[in-house]
Amino acid sequence: MNKIAVYPGSFDPITNGHLDLIDRGRRLFDHVIVAVVRNPSKEALFSAEERVALIREVYRDTDSVSVDAFDGLLVHYCQRMGAHAIVRGLRAVSDFEYEFQMALMNRRLSSSQLETVFMMPNEMYTYVSSGLVKEIFALGGKVDGLVPDPVLTALHQRLRRS
Ligand code: PNS
Repeated sequence: MNKIAVYPGSFDPITNGHLDLIDRGRRLFDHVIVAVVRNPSKEALFSAEERVALIREVYRDTDSVSVDAFDGLLVHYCQRMGAHAIVRGLRAVSDFEYEFQMALMNRRLSSSQLETVFMMPNEMYTYVSSGLVKEIFALGGKVDGLVPDPVLTALHQRLRRS
């Protein structure tokens, strides 16, 4: 049986830390669906379609990764996709409380059918977040090496810097 994992998130924009997690997920699962939430709780720089397109560009030659956008409850989306697990990253202890709460709530909502698998990114990405990347770039700092090339190009276009 093909084991499918859903890796959900805002991905506004996707960072190299997220890519590291996806690569780890690919070693555990046959297929990883990167699922971009349509209405992130925070105001987004890129639309869901733009975020999906950027991630698809990164994985255009990788059959074991697909990219999609979803609305509504994550557990409903996972059930529709036939997923066996949710993948999430833990960068630091500060991530834990929110992740722990979501994992247990998702387990309850799915009547214990969906487990969340936590993975730690390479330590070089523990301080990388989409929020910091956007702030640093907007204020003139360099984010090379923190995001994939398509995202770097999109940031330059969106924030009109060459
Ligand atoms: O990258 P983020 O913003 O930390 O991702 C949060 C995300 C998208 C995983 C979470 O907000 C989510 O699952 N949203 C979908 C709505 C939902 O299912 N809410 C109940 C979660 S217990």
